[in-house]
Amino acid sequence: MVVHGLLATTVTLKTTLPAKRAQECGAMKEKNIPLRERIILALDVGDKTQAREIVRRTESHIGFYKVGLQLFMADWFGMVDWLVDRGHKVMLDLKFFDIPETVRLAVDQIRDRGVALATVHGNDPILRAALQDRGDLRILAVTVLTSFGEEDMRAMGMTQSIADLVAFRAKRALELGCDGIVSSGLEAARIRQELGPRLLIVTPGIRPGDNVAAGGDDQNRVMTPGRALAAGADHLVVGRPVTRANDPVRVIELMQDEIAAALVGSLS
Ligand code: C5P
Repeated sequence: MVVHGLLATTVTLKTTLPAKRAQECGAMKEKNIPLRERIILALDVGDKTQAREIVRRTESHIGFYKVGLQLFMADWFGMVDWLVDRGHKVMLDLKFFDIPETVRLAVDQIRDRGVALATVHGNDPILRAALQDRGDLRILAVTVLTSFGEEDMRAMGMTQSIADLVAFRAKRALELGCDGIVSSGLEAARIRQELGPRLLIVTPGIRPGDNVAAGGDDQNRVMTPGRALAAGADHLVVGRPVTRANDPVRVIELMQDEIAAALVGSLS
């Protein structure tokens, strides 16, 4: 089992046993990711007022936020700059997919804004172009959207299984020099096994507890936070389970307990 980095957090965590034990094991960290940065909270709302409200409500526990298409269309770089100024890490999830030169120039637009992670789709030339002048920005290659199931792949003319395609794309991403990939938790274990610890694995499609069986939204390849971490994910992208909860902070606390327990398990 790969040993994952963990908690160097300054936030006041709930003093539950798994979180404390995981903190004690921090010396064995590999990627040194604090617990408050394990969950990347997706700010999938339509205006900056709502987004800022979510951040203010959750930032005692969360230090990493995702700005995706919806919020970016509403506020352009306003929200990104606000988050960076507030000391938070930002994943800008615009999933660039265009001819290589356009992607290179798009990366250039976001490179010096303090964004930590950006997402890119595509083949080798597109990924190479994204990596060319990225500076400190880390590039994640999107493998296969977590909303896709096997039938969706068939409908798009793909004959490979999702597992094989994700493994293939992850290998290409690593060989090209990408900093990480986006995949579901279902593929994380195989990626770790085949490609080792270097790639950052960022995993959406997280559904806590019994929500996993419930389904009912557009995500297809879903997993609980603990299982995704145990399978090798470094960060979990979580949106609706937190942003639509009556008590978002409580949901985060439960997920972080699960994450901490999984990290302790992977170290013992
Ligand atoms: O609400 P939910 O937890 O399903 O949010 C998942 C987030 O992760 C969304 O913002 C979505 O755009 C993003 N995402 C994804 N699958 C990918 C890449 C990003 O669901 N492959």
